[in-house]
Formats: sequence, structure tokens, C-alpha cells
Amino acid sequence: MSLARSALSAIQRPLYGAGRRTFTSSSSRRSESLFVHRDTDYNNPSIPFTFTPDNLKRAKEIISRYPPQYKKAAVMPILDLGQRQNKGWTSISVMNAVAELLEMPRMRVYEVATFYTMYNREPVAENFLQLCTTTPCQLGGCGSSKILHTIQDHLKISPGQTTKDGKFTLIEVECLGACSNAPMMQIGDDFYEDLTPETTIKLLDALATGEKPKPGPQTGRKTSENAAGLTALTSKPLGPGEMCVPEFA
Ligand code: FES
Repeated sequence: MSLARSALSAIQRPLYGAGRRTFTSSSSRRSESLFVHRDTDYNNPSIPFTFTPDNLKRAKEIISRYPPQYKKAAVMPILDLGQRQNKGWTSISVMNAVAELLEMPRMRVYEVATFYTMYNREPVAENFLQLCTTTPCQLGGCGSSKILHTIQDHLKISPGQTTKDGKFTLIEVECLGACSNAPMMQIGDDFYEDLTPETTIKLLDALATGEKPKPGPQTGRKTSENAAGLTALTSKPLGPGEMCVPEFA
């Protein structure tokens, strides 16, 4: 099987990403998947990975922010750079290239990549849906359970899976820090908030056609302001400045 085909078939499999929930495997397989790398045809050290000249330049700029003897402190942003170049996932070859660039033991890089959940250790689709299902998102608006069911029904996948056309991967994640705009999900680098089943379907349909919907609240409200408008601090502030005696202005 060609590498491209085997990587594509890889994303049809459940994603056993570090620290993420709702996987159907047994707990032992799940915990093993958090820390253990097993060579596969699409993820093994003989698959070459080198940073592009542009990314190498960027990596050098990141490394220059740290004292030369502490350049390994750049491991997280450099792993992120490698993941972005590698279509959104951190293969063993990416980790090895990072170790080489930072002149640090490979094991140290593996430790970081297996600890933080933002490093995807299995391939993901171009639209990577990270739906927050922590308590505030379950309670806010219509609730994240409804959004989860909407996505599952619409895309015919469960959390940890990728659609057959390779366009969407869905996972559940813990709080993403946008609780005041619950329920919400991260797609790629952007937050889509105040979701309803209807706006979720609209989003998915737009993404399927290659559009990039506007991130932020999908109800039209501004950031996390009160949807009913201002109810406090409606008058001009007392100062300093306006309404102050001149010497305090
Ligand atoms: S609980 Fe969902 S963003 Fe905080």
C-alpha cells in the first residue's frame, strides 16, 4: 500500500490521542496508546521528515529567544511547527527531527509529545473538530451533548473517528477556556461558540465545501458580552479623565 493511502486509511481508524476522552477501546489499550509508539506503515522512523527552508528559518528565530545552552526549551513551539508542516499530526519522524534540531535526546522529545494533548500522534483530517464537553459546555445554551449528537448524525462518525472522505476528524476535549460562550468547539486554530444544532450543521456544510466560516459566537453577539445588551456600567466612567477636576485629568 502506498504511503499516502496507508496514511489515509490510518485516519479512518479511531484516534487514540493523548489525554482525550470517549474512546471505545479497553482501558489498557487506551493507556498504552497514550505513551507507547508502535511502528506502523504510516508512522515509523524510516519515513523522512525535514523542515522546509521557511520553517527552518522560523525554528531558528524561535530558538534564538532562548539562551544557547537552553535551546531545548524551544521544544514545544518547534514540535508545533513540525506538526503543522506534517498536516496536523506529530509522527515519530517529526519528533526525531525536532530532537536533532534541538540537539536533545529523542526520549525527551517523546516525553513532551506524549504528555500534551495538542500534539496529535495519529493523522487527523483537514477539519479537526475538537468539541468541548466539560460541564459548563454541557450546561450552557442547548448543551454540548446536543451538539455532539448533531455532529455524529450529520457526519456519521463518533468521537475519535474520521469521515470516509477524510474531511473531518472529531474528538471530545476538556475545557478550552471559552465557557462563557458555551457550547463551543475548536476547529483548526479557531473557536466557534454559542453553538446550536442548526449553526453547527451550517458550519459543517460550509467547511465541507472548503469555505472558512467566521469564527467566534455564531449567534451574532459580540465576544462574550451579554446577549441582551449592557445591563451594568452603562454610564460614563468617573475618571480619572472625564468628570474629574482638571488637576486629576
Ligand atoms: S467548559 Fe467548554 S470551554 Fe470551558
